[in-house]
Amino acid sequence: MGFNVAIDGPAGAGKSTIAKLVAKEMNFIYVDTGAMYRAIALFLLRKGIKPEERERFATECQDADVTIRYEDGMQQVLLNGENVSGLIRTEEVGNMASASSVDGKVREKLLDLQRNLARDNDVVMDGRDIGTNILPNAEVKVYLTASVEERASRRFKELQEKGVACDLEQIKADIKERDERDMNREIAPLKQAEDAVFVDSSDMSIEEVKEAICELIRKVK
Ligand code: DC
Repeated sequence: MGFNVAIDGPAGAGKSTIAKLVAKEMNFIYVDTGAMYRAIALFLLRKGIKPEERERFATECQDADVTIRYEDGMQQVLLNGENVSGLIRTEEVGNMASASSVDGKVREKLLDLQRNLARDNDVVMDGRDIGTNILPNAEVKVYLTASVEERASRRFKELQEKGVACDLEQIKADIKERDERDMNREIAPLKQAEDAVFVDSSDMSIEEVKEAICELIRKVK
């Protein structure tokens, strides 16, 4: 069994930025489970399925095979053998991932992949249900969050830097909608595990959050 660090939290809390830095510092691998849900979402979108067509997710996702590999330490997500890592970062795919991840069959498809990675490697794994459901025995669990305003403004800046046209109010509305769906779905909703450490990054720098989490790991390792 590897040493397992679980980082859960809502969209835009900085999980992936922080998890990548922590993994690098600790020499663990970083596992981005959101990217796996995004790959399935892309598969469904390519079939012309819309986020509100919930009843189609379970059957239509059956032919989606998601795997990952690492290139220069960076996780690459493969969808039926195609590297889709560059195609899954759009708001459209993120919203579809939030919608389709409510489905038990979609979640089931990714369960073994996630657990096997954590069994065979030292991992920092981020997502929504890692500490509560995927890795209940993780050595370190963190619930990383920030205010809706802060998360929206971070995402807005990120998109602007990439040259993507966006609207702050729209991003805020999307984040609220995703919070609502991710936290209130029936299966494996986003919530803080009882034994997770709560970290609000609203007024913390990236370096401060990274150090706080590395410190938690050093204490138990
Ligand atoms: O972290 P992200 O924005 O890439 O995740 C996209 C969506 O995938 C998120 O809104 C909900 C879903 N997800 C999930 O249900 N469980 C996870 N462990 C990770 C992501």
